Formats: sequence, C-alpha cells, structure tokens
Amino acid sequence: MKSLKDYAQIVNRRLEQIPAVIEDGRFEIGEMPWLLSQSMRYSLSAGGKRLRPCMLLAAVDMLGGDGDEALDFACAVEMIHTYSLIHDDLPGMDNDTLRRGRPTNHVVFGEGQAILAGDGLLNCAFETMLARACERPERAAQYLLAIREIATGAGVTGMIAGQVMDLHCERMGSGDERALEYIQHGKTACMFIYPLRAAARLCGAGEDALAALTDYGRAFGLLFQATDDLLDVTGTQEDMGKTLGKDAESGKLTCVSAYGVEGTRALVERLHREALDAIDRFGGDGAFFRALVDSMVDRTK
Ligand code: IPE
Ligand code: IPE
Ligand code: MG
Ligand code: MG
Ligand code: MG
Repeated sequence: MKSLKDYAQIVNRRLEQIPAVIEDGRFEIGEMPWLLSQSMRYSLSAGGKRLRPCMLLAAVDMLGGDGDEALDFACAVEMIHTYSLIHDDLPGMDNDTLRRGRPTNHVVFGEGQAILAGDGLLNCAFETMLARACERPERAAQYLLAIREIATGAGVTGMIAGQVMDLHCERMGSGDERALEYIQHGKTACMFIYPLRAAARLCGAGEDALAALTDYGRAFGLLFQATDDLLDVTGTQEDMGKTLGKDAESGKLTCVSAYGVEGTRALVERLHREALDAIDRFGGDGAFFRALVDSMVDRTK
C-alpha cells in the first residue's frame, strides 16, 4: 500500500510539468505569459499537503483502477484547490498575508495578478482533464462523468456556495448551526466528496461504492474543517503556514464560535466514527482511508 507521502511525490512530479514553464520576455502568440506561469507556480509549488489529489489516487487504487490514467485528474483537483486558496486569501475575502509558509499570492504579485493566477489554475484544471478525454475517445464517457463530479464539487452548489455563505455570515455577523454545516459542507467537504466520486467514475464503480465514498468524504471533510477551526485557535503559525487567530478577529462563523473548543473536539470524535463506518464496506482495501482519518483527529498541520 502506498503512503500519503508516496502519492504526494507522484502528484508533485506531475505538477512540475503543468502549467507550462515559460521563458521571460517572450511574446509568443498561443503561449501563456511568463508572469502567469510564475504566479500560478508560486502558489502551486509552495508545498501544500496534497490531500485531495492523493485521496483521489488512493481511491482509484482501492477500486482497482489505473493510477497513471487518474493522475491528471488528481492534479486538476489540486489546481482547483490552490486557486480556491489564492482567492480565499484576497483582501476582499479573508485578507490573509501568509499561506503555505509564504507571503500570499496577492502580496507578491498584486491583487489583480492573484485573481488571474486563480482564474488560470481553475481553467488549466479543466484544460488538462479535457485534453485527456480528447486523447482517449474510448474512455471519454468515464472521463466526462469524472470531470462533471469535479466541476460539481468546485461549483456553485459546492465549494463556491460554501465560500459565498461563509463571507455572507461573516459580514452579517449571523448564522446558526444549520448555516455552519451548509458552509463547511460546501467550502470544504465538497472538495473531498467529489474528487472521491470522480475516482469512482474513472473506475466505473457502482452506486454502493459511490455512496460509501460520498459518506466518507463528507465526514472527512467536515472533520478536516472542524480541525482547521480548532487549529486557528490552538495551532502554531510555523506548523500551519498561515496566520492564525484570524477567525475570532474577523467574527467568522466556525465550529469554535458555535460549539466552543470542547464541543468542537466532541464533533471531531463523532465525525471520525462516521468516516470509519463509511469506509467499512471496503474491508481491508480501505486501510489507507482508515489510517488517514485517524491521523487527522490530532493533526497539527
Ligand atoms: C486549507 O486546506 C483550506 C481548508 C479547507 C481548511 P489544506 O489545509 O488542505 O491546505 P494545503 O493544501 O495543505 O495548503
Ligand atoms: C477555506 O476555508 C476553504 C476554501 C479555500 C475553499 P478557510 O478560510 O477556513 O481556510 P484557511 O483557514 O484560510 O486555510
Ligand atoms: Mg475562508
Ligand atoms: Mg481563509
Ligand atoms: Mg481556516
């Protein structure tokens, strides 16, 4: 069985090739600008945990699919996630100056270029996946289903929906537990659920497997955001690579603001059990996912 580190290495190697590496000072029509290549790479290569693409690849392995074929779909998920972080940090959103241990994209490249780096990563994700579908027409049906899952997770009922309501509730200083679950399901859990579902689509898996991965992704994602909220209070900047204490300062609706630190720990316990229950159906083949969620309960980074 491969480890998270093994998968992350595979993803990182491929991400070094996409987006294109460009030479400075060229104005070649049909090429992306050097500046865009630099700004996209700056955030992409800053060393994220690569959880989402690694989980997609691990799910493909668990279901007996082809990992090489799935790699560009996994990289696309990481590009979309990285775009969401660049935009999340913008002055008009969470207004953060540190990400992945580096100054945020807009601090280095300016706000306009940071918006465009995010746009570039989002588009590049779909260009990459569609290129694979066009190359292999005999697999296009499975690829289209996978692309649709990823688009849904990142989309207007998924990640973007969660981000919209996150900002709205912060601005209004409002939101109950139902709003909180809507936000965290959207902004965070959807970026786990749908890449896992995409893996199932690539493998032609049945409804049972899709449902189990959906349940696991939901519990895992909500747990991941609950621990992110906890770490904003209890973590260290060095481990997390971002400025902490921001949620309370900005009046963000989080698990900690709604349930307190102890209440959030209890929620994490409950979600941990739910994730383990969901993965149970895969028996021994689910070992990677069992170990992964176990390791998230007390994470420090
Ligand atoms: C940060 O995600 C955004 C949240 C959903 C909390 P990660 O903690 O996975 O960030 P990276 O990719 O490792 O930087
Ligand atoms: C971010 O949630 C979720 C997305 C980027 C979609 P947060 O705003 O809590 O993430 P951090 O704490 O900035 O990483
Ligand atoms: Mg945010
Ligand atoms: Mg943020
Ligand atoms: Mg946070």
